[in-house]
Amino acid sequence: MGNVVVVGTQWGDEGKGKVVDLLASSADIVVRFQGGNNAGHTLVVNGEKTICHLIPSGILHEDKKCLIGNGVVVDPAVLLEEMNDLEKRGISVTPERLSLSEKAHIVMPYHKAIDLAREAAKGSGKLGTTGRGIGPCYEDKVARTGIRAVDLLEPDTLEAKIRTNLKEKNFYLEKFLKAEPLEFQPIYEKYSSMAEILAPFIADVSQEIDQAIKDGKTILFEGAQGTHLDVDHGTYPFVTSSNPISGTVCTGAGVGPDKLHHVVGIVKAYTTRVGAGPFPTELLDETGDYIQERGAEFGATTGRRRRCGWLDLVVVRDSVRLNGLTSLSITKLDVLTGLERVKVCVGYELDGRRIESRPASLKKLARCKPLYEDLPGWKEDISSAKAVKDLPPQARNYLKVIEERTAVPFSLVSVGPGREETIKLKDPFETS
Ligand code: GDP
Ligand code: IMO
Ligand code: MG
Repeated sequence: MGNVVVVGTQWGDEGKGKVVDLLASSADIVVRFQGGNNAGHTLVVNGEKTICHLIPSGILHEDKKCLIGNGVVVDPAVLLEEMNDLEKRGISVTPERLSLSEKAHIVMPYHKAIDLAREAAKGSGKLGTTGRGIGPCYEDKVARTGIRAVDLLEPDTLEAKIRTNLKEKNFYLEKFLKAEPLEFQPIYEKYSSMAEILAPFIADVSQEIDQAIKDGKTILFEGAQGTHLDVDHGTYPFVTSSNPISGTVCTGAGVGPDKLHHVVGIVKAYTTRVGAGPFPTELLDETGDYIQERGAEFGATTGRRRRCGWLDLVVVRDSVRLNGLTSLSITKLDVLTGLERVKVCVGYELDGRRIESRPASLKKLARCKPLYEDLPGWKEDISSAKAVKDLPPQARNYLKVIEERTAVPFSLVSVGPGREETIKLKDPFETS
């Protein structure tokens, strides 16, 4: 047994939530280590849908502990709402089941206001953020002006920090972004009352993980967003403000790299993207619409229609390298059912030369032409397949092409949103 990291290999929404919920049955603890409530992770259990934005996707397993690491930015109002929604459905979220790192940074109303006002000011040049204040919150963390969960426990610290920050933020909002300023008192009161409810959950998550490992427990680390939204390695500036790659577990949860044994990359059988930014294999035709409709590709956080395109193995191979992937989990293979032909991008042509990795320059990327392998599609319903041999030969061939071109073995193939709609090939915990 070993500890497992799950990351997205594309531009997010690969189906990380489904896979984490599934793998959580073999773990003792599930940990989020970056991102915030820009994430929307969907779990479908016994036909019932749950969307986790901040709470780790292991929460539906009653005997598992869920931890929110220091690398996550936390909007306390969203966290409390998520906890209440789960409670209403009979899933108890007590401090025995959930801890929030005392070092996690807190999303404040001015972060959201700045995020929204900046996007509005950019007009057609906007990034298409989720508008949840994620970028501005990470900016404050790096600027060393952020408010951490531990500050919520000290009323005088909280008060001083909100006052100081508001002066600067209001100047920026009013004078530069031409937006409304925010008042101190309602923010302070709201955050103080939320702090009281959250206080018992605030803990030293790094130490909790360390102790659990010493006690022989198994940890599952749940990534948010996707590798190509990574602020360093993604399609900058059309990225999020954190590092969704596997290495972030160390900084975002407070564990050493020797504690990570297996890294599962989630690959959607095609590609989607929400928000603006380059997308070489995007389909702006009826095939794109077919995938969008069959895959119900609407954002789990903002409800926006997701852009759809063919599977891009340049993108996936970059993810293999950046994350050190030890296995791939393919999701939504069922969505491709019914297509006459399915294409897979296996390289790019840039100015007459073949390249195997995505260039950093957006101008160069815009000149890249995807090189496709054109494969036969399948018509059969595959959602009840329990083994690869149950799949039609064309679907098996599709998987073979992915496995050969990435040189990474599959741990599972998902053929529907439900927990049971899964072909299990290898338990990542057992192979590590
Ligand atoms: P995440 O952000 O990576 O957790 O992914 P999202 O939850 O945002 O989006 C994935 C969507 O696909 C959700 O609606 C899932 O319920 C759904 N899903 C996951 N796996 C499969 C699958 O194999 N087939 C189908 N049809 N839907 C799936
Ligand atoms: P999960 O965890 C898909 C995208 C936004 C936007 C860009 C920056 O569900 O896979 P931000 O609000 O982070 O500053 O927006 O990143 N984005 C996501 N796209 N899935 C996500 O999370 C995303 N989180 C952020 O759409 O393009
Ligand atoms: Mg999502």
